[in-house]
Amino acid sequence: MKILSGIQPSGQLHIGNYFGMMLPMIRNMDRGELYAFIVNLHALTTVHDPERLRRDTINAAMDFMALGLAPERCIFWVQSDVPEVTELTWILSTLTPMGLLERCHSYKDKVAKGIAPSHGLFAYPMLMAADILIYQADLVPVGKDQKQHLEVTRDIAIKFNNTFGETFVLPEPMIDEDVATVPGIDGQKMSKSYGNTINIFEDEKSLKKSVMAIKTDSTPVEEPKDPDKCHLFNIFKLFAPADRLAEVKSLYINGGAAYGRIKLELVDMLWEFFRDARDKRAKLAQDPDQVKEILAQGAVKARTKAAITLDLVRQRVGLRY
Ligand code: TRP
Repeated sequence: MKILSGIQPSGQLHIGNYFGMMLPMIRNMDRGELYAFIVNLHALTTVHDPERLRRDTINAAMDFMALGLAPERCIFWVQSDVPEVTELTWILSTLTPMGLLERCHSYKDKVAKGIAPSHGLFAYPMLMAADILIYQADLVPVGKDQKQHLEVTRDIAIKFNNTFGETFVLPEPMIDEDVATVPGIDGQKMSKSYGNTINIFEDEKSLKKSVMAIKTDSTPVEEPKDPDKCHLFNIFKLFAPADRLAEVKSLYINGGAAYGRIKLELVDMLWEFFRDARDKRAKLAQDPDQVKEILAQGAVKARTKAAITLDLVRQRVGLRY
């Protein structure tokens, strides 16, 4: 079983990233062969500041390791260190109908938000398909927002297999429905581009600021409220132990849930929840060269795997003559 997923190096990682992709990857480390990578080529669709891209790439790697990804138990690398993937992207793109990409919500959302509709942004799902198919992944842990990209990947793989003969494994998305969409502090999906995140490695002061800003309604404390409709509760339940969660839930249902107090409790919970990771993160930051070395070793392993698939693909399509 090959389990694979990538994370964008775009500034501070937040609890939506954590539950959507990082935690499932960390939990599945020993279920099969795990492939984890930092997708800096994807980040180039929105980041054109070289200093920032460099910094965010290494920071994302350190964050992931601090949260529990153990590089000795997986293959961990930076996407651009395996250039084979860009060649596969091109080959796949020659089989991909425009309409398939035109329907992608993620592209449409980004353009609606004012991101320049470059060809790279449009072709983003092609690069993602190549990422997945080149390693013959079986399972891909992602947040719900990436589900459509997985469907595109499967469509392209099927088309390739039908055209040139069985070549690619068809990957399955792995989406944890319980945490499929972590709400942001404004209730929309948590996303860096919406500015509504709670970041994993914030200092205590700004963590408190983010949590206190979670949008709640104006129902008085003593009145009953629907916990499932409350963004605060939906974030709280990701971190609260079962017994405390049951108590708070009953306060919602029977009256007595005070948003301000629940927020303060959530701040403490978050701070404790990521305490070990924070300590580990600080240690890793002291030696970025060691992290770079780990990534370089990962890239060698990943490249060996990618080259096997690409070689087969070249042969199948007639590029080897
Ligand atoms: N598009 C994914 C995201 O934004 C990141 C990504 C790139 C990815 N390549 C991938 C995820 C391959 C899984 C597999 O979250």
